[in-house]
Amino acid sequence: MKVLVVGGGGREHTLCWKIAQSPLVETLYCAPGNPGIAELAECVHIAADEIDALLDFAKAEQVDLTVVGPEVPLTMGIVDRFQAAGLEIFGPNQAAAQIEGSKRFSKDLMARYNIPTAAYQSFTDHAAAVAYIREQGAPIVVKADGLAAGKGVIVAMDEEQAITALDDIMRDKVFGNAGASVVIEEFMVGEEASFFAFTDGKNILPLASSQDHKRAFDNDEGPNTGGMGAYSPAPVVTAELHEEIVETIVKPTIDGMAADGHPYVGILYVGLMIKDGRPRVVEFNARFGDPEAQPLLMRMKSDIVPVLQACARGALTQDSIEWHDKAAVCVVMASGGYPGSFKKGLPISGLDDAAQLDDLVVFHAGTVFNAGAVVNNGGRVLGVTALGNDVAAAIERAYQGVAIINWQDVHYRKDIGRKALNR
Ligand code: AMP
Ligand code: GLY
Repeated sequence: MKVLVVGGGGREHTLCWKIAQSPLVETLYCAPGNPGIAELAECVHIAADEIDALLDFAKAEQVDLTVVGPEVPLTMGIVDRFQAAGLEIFGPNQAAAQIEGSKRFSKDLMARYNIPTAAYQSFTDHAAAVAYIREQGAPIVVKADGLAAGKGVIVAMDEEQAITALDDIMRDKVFGNAGASVVIEEFMVGEEASFFAFTDGKNILPLASSQDHKRAFDNDEGPNTGGMGAYSPAPVVTAELHEEIVETIVKPTIDGMAADGHPYVGILYVGLMIKDGRPRVVEFNARFGDPEAQPLLMRMKSDIVPVLQACARGALTQDSIEWHDKAAVCVVMASGGYPGSFKKGLPISGLDDAAQLDDLVVFHAGTVFNAGAVVNNGGRVLGVTALGNDVAAAIERAYQGVAIINWQDVHYRKDIGRKALNR
């Protein structure tokens, strides 16, 4: 069969790496892809949000299955368009993708179905929002309703900071229309973890646990990023907690979405805050996590393609995934300055040598070819991902890979996975 992956980051490289191993797949395309993906798939020069062009390509090439990586095309309705044309596609439709596309939508869903999360209120009126912040006090969390490229959440430690965030979002419209409405919610403390489940809209197939490292610097300091590294399994998610997450969060969410008339199909990403062994939802995303996909898919033993197809067809009967009995750790190598501004076009050395290491894959994110050389072209550049007999061994192997690779101003955290060792 012919498969098309939409996107060109680390998550999509990982999806291509896993999909390419399936005996069912003859041809793999990726739009737009990146230099790492180009070793596994035929890269097509179409951006992930050019839905008309993607649809024309999929029709012309008679693509059997399209797999969507990022959230933007999902919230734009790529799934609806492909389905209307009779094409099979993995991901939620536009109505269901609101679970990520609108914080208000997801908070209201959780309230309706008693899914544990932070207390909140949503506002379209600035004065009413200010009054609520004054009444609640700080710390408090201000969230732009819509997609804001991961920047729309402000964890405010005092009331003034919360009100400044509100002014930026509602008055100065720094996130455009995404800030027409805001959610203001209770500040939660605890340990964060990521939980994923495949679903066909009715049945669910949970994945192994994982944990991201969102802050830019060691010891969870510095600004929030898209994720500086991840590992799986995450010992904070015990077998008991896994069960509780499935029963009190994932199932009611999938059932609620169906009951509300927009069944959720695809992979559901649940961002969790765990305190005293109890999970609460921080946010939902309508897609795989990046970089969580890197360690998770390296650990996944089962063929992923039948799972993706079964979800897209509404016929998910498989009730478990086979996992390698190993841990996986992904260390993100980023451009110096990320998540702020950084220099692009710097040549990266050591990629071929790192590729020689066993149990290690260097997934590309923000890279591009320049005159035959691979250079950095984004904030998060590479996801060096390794397997090991336990988390400690996987950490060691991943950092062996990291040590071989270099470019000017490279930045990475030195403590990825350490949280798992401290348990
Ligand atoms: P989100 O974009 O919703 O994932 O939020 C980004 C980050 O902000 C999360 O990963 C948390 O670290 C933090 N965050 C979001 N909501 C809350 C909350 N209610 N309490 C504490 N931290 C939060
Ligand atoms: N790792 C965070 C995200 O994918 O949103």
